[in-house]
Amino acid sequence: MYKDLNKKVAVITGGSKGIGTAISKRFGQEHMSVVINYNSDSKGAQEAADEVEQNGGQAVIVQANVATEEGNASLLQAAIDNFGDLDIWVNNAGMETKAPTHELSLEDWNRVIAVDQTGVFLGSKTALNYFKKQNKAGNIINMSSVHEQIPWPTFSSYAAAKGGVKMFTKTIAMEYAKDNIRVNAIGPGAINTPINAKKFADKEQYDQTVSMVPMNRIGKPEEVAAGAAWLASSESIYVTGVTLFIDGGMTLYPAFMNGQG
Ligand code: BGC
Repeated sequence: MYKDLNKKVAVITGGSKGIGTAISKRFGQEHMSVVINYNSDSKGAQEAADEVEQNGGQAVIVQANVATEEGNASLLQAAIDNFGDLDIWVNNAGMETKAPTHELSLEDWNRVIAVDQTGVFLGSKTALNYFKKQNKAGNIINMSSVHEQIPWPTFSSYAAAKGGVKMFTKTIAMEYAKDNIRVNAIGPGAINTPINAKKFADKEQYDQTVSMVPMNRIGKPEEVAAGAAWLASSESIYVTGVTLFIDGGMTLYPAFMNGQG
């Protein structure tokens, strides 16, 4: 637990499932006030909100499309109306689609870029404007992926978006360091979340993924949430512009594990 997080106000996009729900819950344990954004799954968002409150925090759920300026503005407004302030903004909403790139439709490409990359830009812009106006030492956390670094055939839109999130994070970390605004990313590896449910239900694909993780297991959403809490807290006060990989070693070139090469 991080004492300084007590009563801090956070917006979490894509909070109705997976890593977003785990971060909401963890922020609840830290006794924070959380605006939980969802796109279509109001039930998931409400369950996350209930968990926040059961753990001693406060929560509201807000439907919004993170790929729009109005959507992000409504999340900020909810933070101000319900909790009077904003301290931490987590751009977590994300999606992925699989297709060989020569067959990938422009529509699917645009959908992934809109949520995974443009959503991060618009969320960050909204938070930056608030922090600057209030002259506030704000904190932005962007959900990237191991695929900001590891190429991922048949997921080129996702890898392109996450590579973009990496450089966007570093660039605005540099741009707003003088304003005391910290901006970091988290790069999860293979985590047990709904985005992976279908793949992990297939034993062969599950085992294959595990074999690409030096720690030899799939990660838990709460292990990613622990990183978000640390980045949100003042324990990480001198950290900006990094991607914190939480991946069991997936980015360590596991194909070399037994000294090959
Ligand atoms: C993706 C998962 C994938 C993992 C490792 C994540 O960013 O969302 O679907 O299992 O990277 O490849």
